[in-house]
Amino acid sequence: MESIATVPRSDADIFSEEVMAAPYTVFRELRDAGPVVRLDRYDVLAVPRYAEARHVLGDWEAFSSADIALNDRFNQYLEGSILSAAPPLHDRLRGVMASRLAPRAMRDLKPDITRRAEELVERLVAKGSFDAVADLACWFPVEVVGDLIGLPREGRERLMPLVDANFNCFGPDSDRTRASAAKLPELADYVMTSAARGALTEGSMGSAVYEAADAGDIPQESAPWLVMGYVTAGMDTTVHAIGHAVWLLAEHPDQWDALRADPSLVPQAFREVLRHESPVQVFGRTAAADWTVGDLTVPAGSRLAILYGCANRDERKWADADRFDITRANADHLAFGYGLHGCAGQALARLEGEAILHALLSRVRRIEAGEPVRHFNNVLRGLESLPVTVSTD
Ligand code: HEM
Repeated sequence: MESIATVPRSDADIFSEEVMAAPYTVFRELRDAGPVVRLDRYDVLAVPRYAEARHVLGDWEAFSSADIALNDRFNQYLEGSILSAAPPLHDRLRGVMASRLAPRAMRDLKPDITRRAEELVERLVAKGSFDAVADLACWFPVEVVGDLIGLPREGRERLMPLVDANFNCFGPDSDRTRASAAKLPELADYVMTSAARGALTEGSMGSAVYEAADAGDIPQESAPWLVMGYVTAGMDTTVHAIGHAVWLLAEHPDQWDALRADPSLVPQAFREVLRHESPVQVFGRTAAADWTVGDLTVPAGSRLAILYGCANRDERKWADADRFDITRANADHLAFGYGLHGCAGQALARLEGEAILHALLSRVRRIEAGEPVRHFNNVLRGLESLPVTVSTD
């Protein structure tokens, strides 16, 4: 058995804007280097391939989420949150969220989300040209999720940059992370005031959290943090997915035509967007015990960086992995994670993304995209802006 000393090493800086702008060559090098690769700059072991990423995500006891961020300061801040908790606390927190985000609850929401998507797309298509990020992708999840949580209308526009900063804080200690950490008090202030119990709409997901605390289902002190969980997890991720969906379908007119010819492919197409350009790129885990992977041993206590977007391009798993193909079998992509901490809001995210695609499909013959501007975040992959022109039949 080889020792940790033989784990392949890389000096790639996956958190630099240079690599974030075009990560896929570096991702391939990491996957080719081995099943775990030490990122020398950050003293963490990257898990770049699909099989090992799924293995780690699927075993919460062997790979703890207690240190889900790549810096200690934010891990302390996250203590007791759903993302970093283990059972039994994790399951109590998740139980409160799951009932409101389960597929059955989504069926009730579908007519309203469909109508909102149609109204928005109708308005934008009438203009002919618009920014697919600012006017479409940003607007929709903030409205939909904001209403579901029960947030007051006023002040929602503050959220996107604050949530973006929150995601940056999962990264390694760096200028970007520290600048974002300085914004956390403003996000906490929002949750404690604008999203405080009395400010939330009656019957909303947010007020259900406080009712669960009253019923003793979750600790009282967890309630605002769980509301924070909805706010932080449910907006920017979906914004980036929708932005990428428009971009990829504009760049691949053959795929757009295939989708127009067969709209029943919409769920598969949205999954392919998530596989191809995964909104969440990295979260951390810690090996609780020695982990034998191939002929390497990763010692207990090692900090791991799971590269979701890199695993979703692994040629060991996906034929012609870099090809955007809405007809491929892609149900087991890792963009929503996997296992205990797999995304609690994935049915909602899919509902939103699919509603937007259907609304576009029924009105738009061709989407033409101008130059996209990339958004840089330690964890999220998305676009800052995407000018598009749409033509109708
Ligand atoms: C396309 C959009 C989305 C993507 C790509 C996404 C991605 C993810 C990923 C990768 C995780 C796993 C974290 C881990 O492995 O530790 C996760 C967890 C989570 N997501 Fe999402 N998410 C999306 C939308 C949403 C929405 C709309 C909500 C709720 C409104 C949501 C709520 C959550 C929650 C609560 C967790 C934590 C689950 C747990 O720790 O048990 N997400 N998400």
